[in-house]
Amino acid sequence: MSPSIIPVELFDLVVFGGTGDLAKRKLLPALYHRDCDDQIPDESRIIAISRSELDKDTYANLVRDALQEHVSEELIDDSVLDRFLGRLDYVSLDAKADAGWSELGTRLGGHDDRVRVFYLATAPGLFGEVCRKINENRLNTPKSRVVLEKPIGRDLASAKQINDAVGKVFAEDQTYRIDHYLGKETVQNLMVLRFANTLFEPLWNATAIDHVQITVAEAIGVEGRGGYYDRSGALRDMVQNHLLQLLCLVAMEPPTSLTADAVRDEKLKVLRALKPITGSDVSKKTVRGQYKAGASNGAAVPGYIDELGSDFESRTETFVAMKAEIENWRWAGVPFYLRTGKRLATRTSEIVVHFKSIPHSIFPVGADDVTENRLVVRLQPDEGMELSLMVKDPGPGGMRLRPASLNLSFAETFKVRYRDAYERLLMDVVRGNPTLFMRRDEVEAAWTWIEPVINAWQEQREPPKPYTASSWGPSAAIALIERDGRTWYEV
Ligand code: BG6
Repeated sequence: MSPSIIPVELFDLVVFGGTGDLAKRKLLPALYHRDCDDQIPDESRIIAISRSELDKDTYANLVRDALQEHVSEELIDDSVLDRFLGRLDYVSLDAKADAGWSELGTRLGGHDDRVRVFYLATAPGLFGEVCRKINENRLNTPKSRVVLEKPIGRDLASAKQINDAVGKVFAEDQTYRIDHYLGKETVQNLMVLRFANTLFEPLWNATAIDHVQITVAEAIGVEGRGGYYDRSGALRDMVQNHLLQLLCLVAMEPPTSLTADAVRDEKLKVLRALKPITGSDVSKKTVRGQYKAGASNGAAVPGYIDELGSDFESRTETFVAMKAEIENWRWAGVPFYLRTGKRLATRTSEIVVHFKSIPHSIFPVGADDVTENRLVVRLQPDEGMELSLMVKDPGPGGMRLRPASLNLSFAETFKVRYRDAYERLLMDVVRGNPTLFMRRDEVEAAWTWIEPVINAWQEQREPPKPYTASSWGPSAAIALIERDGRTWYEV
């Protein structure tokens, strides 16, 4: 086996949005962890950018606090922490104005031979402008890369606009569109499960599979991100990217290799084969919901509108359930049910592959009484896989059948700390490996499928269906799957 820590080249990472929520919660903790594993070369630097007038030391203190909040206590090592804080630099700059850019140029100057990463953890409306300024100030070196956080736009036209603006400065192979779900351990394991085992692939099609469910449920609400979320909603925030990427990895044909384009070509084919949801199908195949006040473990949980602190009735959806169909030979007639929401009963993300029932029963019970096989791929919180099989109930009493599970918990089996997706993805950017990032055509194909649903929802002018916080969403989501004679897998 190759070593688990693969060294990366010397780099300078420039984080636009350096004082923002994503930087504090995810990017800086991820980089700190990489430093703990000695993966960050000695002279590498992290240059944070934001509009606030801070000096380097104040910024380092802010990062120290953020790490203390977002890294578990036992993983804080004072000597690594000091080394990590020593890598930080800070430049105050407003992306829309000229001031500050020459200072950034000065800090970067003389290091054109290093890998240079521009991480745009800002509103997508700024991506084009930041790239234009990077170009104007001649900061785009041959070893530069740009990382774009989602959402890339809010519809197809705005996504194209952003991609065009970024594309004027950075070539496609310098552009890393991040979807952190692709960096999750179990998501990668999906590829290993499918393509490093002979067991499943012959069955991975409409002949053996009845349907697939993909659930990404969150127990949290909008967590102070109401301003962004209310303009976005669950369809744009989660389905257009994370859930569709999961669907692609389940449904794609085996790529010829793990190279970026081989994998991305196959995912793109899936996105293009998605049956458009238009007209009256929108009400039949999609459900949008919004949480109302409820309770969790005896404590009151506010509704969405209260959490926003808004004095108007927002119609933004915090829950989506939908039925997707893939029009190709492998998946004809196999629905993919997708569901995601905030303030659901529990935090869980999983992919459930339901196999077909047996064609005939030789047992005392009928074929319908034999529970179908099911493969559950758990992404979080307890990463693992579970395969349910029928077995004989032990002991006397004749051939009594019952379902039982083969359960693989990665935490118990491997006893290692599970790396956050951003740790892997950030190092992949430095390495120049875009396999786990979205190519322009993928993002645009995903918008092409999502957009008619957004438009139809807007035209219908119906408010989202209410659901109680800490429940499993509106009853219409249950009806959506039950109309097809199926039920949501119970967590
Ligand atoms: C982000 C969304 O992309 O993913 C958030 O913007 C969501 O709204 C988050 O909470 C979920 O990520 P994870 O890794 O916690 O499942």
